Amino acid sequence: MHPMYNSKITGLGYYVPDNVVTNDDLSKVMDTNDAWIQERTGIKERRHVASEEDTTTSMGVKAAKIAIERAGIDKNDIDFIVFATLSPDYYFPGPGVLVQKELGIKTVGALDVRNQCSGFVYGISVADQYIKTGMYKNVLVIGSEVHSRGLDMTTRGRSVSVIFGDGAGAAVLSREEDTSKGILSTHLHSEGEHAEELALIAPGMGKRWVTDIIKENDPNDESYLPVMNGQFVFKNAVVRFSEVIMEGLSKNNLEPTDIDMLVPHQANLRISQFIQKKFRLNDDQVFNNIMKYGNTTAASIPIALTEAWEQGKIKEGDLVVLAAFGSGFTWGSVIIKW
Ligand code: UT7
Repeated sequence: MHPMYNSKITGLGYYVPDNVVTNDDLSKVMDTNDAWIQERTGIKERRHVASEEDTTTSMGVKAAKIAIERAGIDKNDIDFIVFATLSPDYYFPGPGVLVQKELGIKTVGALDVRNQCSGFVYGISVADQYIKTGMYKNVLVIGSEVHSRGLDMTTRGRSVSVIFGDGAGAAVLSREEDTSKGILSTHLHSEGEHAEELALIAPGMGKRWVTDIIKENDPNDESYLPVMNGQFVFKNAVVRFSEVIMEGLSKNNLEPTDIDMLVPHQANLRISQFIQKKFRLNDDQVFNNIMKYGNTTAASIPIALTEAWEQGKIKEGDLVVLAAFGSGFTWGSVIIKW
């Protein structure tokens, strides 16, 4: 079916906490070093929230306000909210409704997306479908994470905790009448067989609940710490990134040479470089900022997309490709005619 409308990104914004944590800062609290982190991941520094003031919701709201202003709409023009995070303020309800409250907007629907590193791509896809069918005109999509409070900042947790950072990004998607423009297509996948390869198993483990954990009060209980089989995730990431970008291009009869800007989820600079080489893109055609922020999971693509746009690296008519891979496993791509 040919869509009635397309959606297009009309406003972008991001917010990161002021507190910069360098690799050297981490080496003071755990057995790691700047050379290892830079060589394996490309990360030089990341942000960690420093006060109770910055939460997943509050950072998301700050990013959203910028995106709404840049979209040139009133907050009451927003028809629907989509919030992607793996680090919600509350276990329930999710941050979507908290954003609705904080922005003080009418009783529009709010949906929470639990797709980790692919969360923003999934969120964009959901928003796009609502706009394509004509149901909504303006949808706010937010990705935000506070990782730092949940990481094991000792040597035990080093292979995970040096990678992740805090931050938020947001986009307003609005109706575009010209269906040759805006979001051309989105592509989503998952493979639950590998759910436990990158996960935080607590509190349930499918068998117990927070109350049981409190009762057990075991200081060595590791179920509340994120776990990642790094090499396995890496190997799957490079394959799935490539596949899902190709799928999106083929669907629109496009070639890798048509890409003006690829904004990959910032999981590891080595993954981005692998994809860049594979698609024979030059340095101006791939945007990376993992050096400054680490991996911010659902926030990484909207932060990177906003920075690329702010730096004038995305122009009208450009073919922009977003792609993500992460826990689930889940992965996806978005093909945009800007
Ligand atoms: O965003 C969601 C998707 N996530 C990803 O795509 C992540 C994919 N995976 C990766 O990016 C990489 O696998 C990592 C960056 C996580 C790890 O890099 P690696 O090259 O796969 O290292 P490794 O886990 O195989 O560890 C190599 C060595 C080990 O020591 P031994 O056993 O060789 O003596 C680790 O104990 O490096 C050690 N190590 C560290 N050393 C210093 C692990 N973490 C650290 C650390 N500092 N932080």
